[in-house]
Amino acid sequence: MKHEQLSFPEALRHLAKRYNFELEETQATEEEKQLKDERESLFAVMNFAKQYYRDQMLETDLGRNIALSYFKSRGYTDQTIEKFGLGFAPEGFHNLLNELKAKQFDIELAKKTGLIGEKNDNLYDFFRDRVMFTIQNHTGKVVAFAGRTLRSDKKIAKYVNSAESEIYSKSRVLYGLHFAKQAISKQDQCFLVEGYTDVISLHQAGVENVVATSGTSLTTDQVKLLKRYTQNLTLLFDGDAAGLKAALRGVDLILPHDVNVKVVALPTEHDPDSFMTEKGHSGFLEYVAANEKDFILFKLNTVLEGKKNDPVKRAEAAKSVIESIALVPDGIKRSFYAHECADLLGIDEQLLHLEINKARRAEQKRQNQISARDARVQNRYEAQQVVAPLQTDQEKLLKDKTYYVEKEIVRVLLEYGHELLDAEMTVADYILFELDEQAFETPQFERIVHLYRLAEQQDKQITIEQLTKQAEEPVVQAVIEATSHPHDLSENWLEKHEIRVDGDRNEKIKEDVLFTIASFKLHCAQVLIDDKNEQLKESGDEEEQMGLLQEIMNLRDIIKQNSDQLRRNYYLH
Ligand code: GTP
Ligand code: MN
Repeated sequence: MKHEQLSFPEALRHLAKRYNFELEETQATEEEKQLKDERESLFAVMNFAKQYYRDQMLETDLGRNIALSYFKSRGYTDQTIEKFGLGFAPEGFHNLLNELKAKQFDIELAKKTGLIGEKNDNLYDFFRDRVMFTIQNHTGKVVAFAGRTLRSDKKIAKYVNSAESEIYSKSRVLYGLHFAKQAISKQDQCFLVEGYTDVISLHQAGVENVVATSGTSLTTDQVKLLKRYTQNLTLLFDGDAAGLKAALRGVDLILPHDVNVKVVALPTEHDPDSFMTEKGHSGFLEYVAANEKDFILFKLNTVLEGKKNDPVKRAEAAKSVIESIALVPDGIKRSFYAHECADLLGIDEQLLHLEINKARRAEQKRQNQISARDARVQNRYEAQQVVAPLQTDQEKLLKDKTYYVEKEIVRVLLEYGHELLDAEMTVADYILFELDEQAFETPQFERIVHLYRLAEQQDKQITIEQLTKQAEEPVVQAVIEATSHPHDLSENWLEKHEIRVDGDRNEKIKEDVLFTIASFKLHCAQVLIDDKNEQLKESGDEEEQMGLLQEIMNLRDIIKQNSDQLRRNYYLH
């Protein structure tokens, strides 16, 4: 629902179509109906307001003299004004309010849209004495407004925007996307600008693949939204120092999303709007073509500027660039950047690679620590339950798959935990990272993983000797259990271990680790699927059923990924 800005039934139909489900439609429940009705009503209020602001601009003298002439002075055509839903909110506190009342709109709903405010039991228009911009979501529905004052009084905010509501989430909407999405797909590229007027001017001049963030920095949700249409983003920003700074700051947030970011610095004193107005379509595009730079190389050049002979400042510059490169998920791209930047920095390329990997490790550590901290809270509770020795029937447990896959994870942790998987991380780092916060069912094994998490956090290493000397008795038993080769060696187990007999030790370890983790994940997914299927049988609630089906689909994906990893049908029945 959030992704596509759909109502619940719309989302169901969308999913059913996508996954080829036969969707049996029955009468909507009362609750569903109300929810849908409410959203529809909110949209109805918004549409009415859009029409009202438009009429105020076109059909009153004041509107024509103030708003229409302002938009005209910005060079907007009638067509553009209509298309982008521009308008005018006159002075006064009850204009829209009275109109809504006259048309019998539910004022409670109008309050929910943010168009009507309430203070000390007094209702009032939120937008007053401003020219209006309509904000639509990517499906074209009116979800919010922005109002710009035409007064030069510095105490008045230049723009005010609708508050967030049931139908408007600021971080999920990009201004202009509805009008831009086709052009973005077609050109496989999107311009990002700051303001409403930038979008409108570029659009009117024929550059339609443009969206604005409305003055804030781009959010993760917005990047995800854009990535449906293109991976190639071009930031246009004011050439002055402030614009430059803002651009450099914002982009590190975009880099982890595997998009290609280019930047174009406009001549000082220009924003995209004024630049387009001055240069026109072809002049604008020529400038862009001649001046667009890859973001990371641009950042490097910018931070190096004027520091040719200052080794300390150059080192600082190099560090900030290394941090940006480290955020790029694609290894090939990182390598390319390392190559280019090594040249520009005059640093050995190998060294640069090492530093980038270090930065990546540091970031991953930071992420791990966050999850370790959360896990610690949980484990403090669970650790208390560990002290009791294994009471369940050993034989039964040995056959139990959960017990078995958990033990295997603990085995590779104990056997290879300290070994380097690659230049960046140890086997223990990797396993903990992959396990994320997943808790084990067998308390002893959970305890061992917990100890590894603690050790990682303190940058220490755990050895089997340490564990057998210091840990509680049940944990010691579990260590022995996991590291002594089981008496019920299955054929598969033997087969698997035979692979390790010759060849490169490192490769064998890697294979063992990846195999073990894949087995574990596969098993967990299977258990969850069984669980969800049970729930599905018992559930009488349609909404819950669809949720469960979606979860099962996701789990099947996980199974698919991990069974590719498993070269044999080891745990698949
Ligand atoms: P001029 O370029 O001076 O004609 O004004 P403009 O209407 O083009 O706006 P400007 O270039 O100053 O600002 C660009 C964008 O920044 C706007 O579209 C808004 O999204 C945002 N912005 C500017 N001022 C404010 C403000 O006071 N409050 C908020 N919330 N956003 C603002
Ligand atoms: Mn502007």
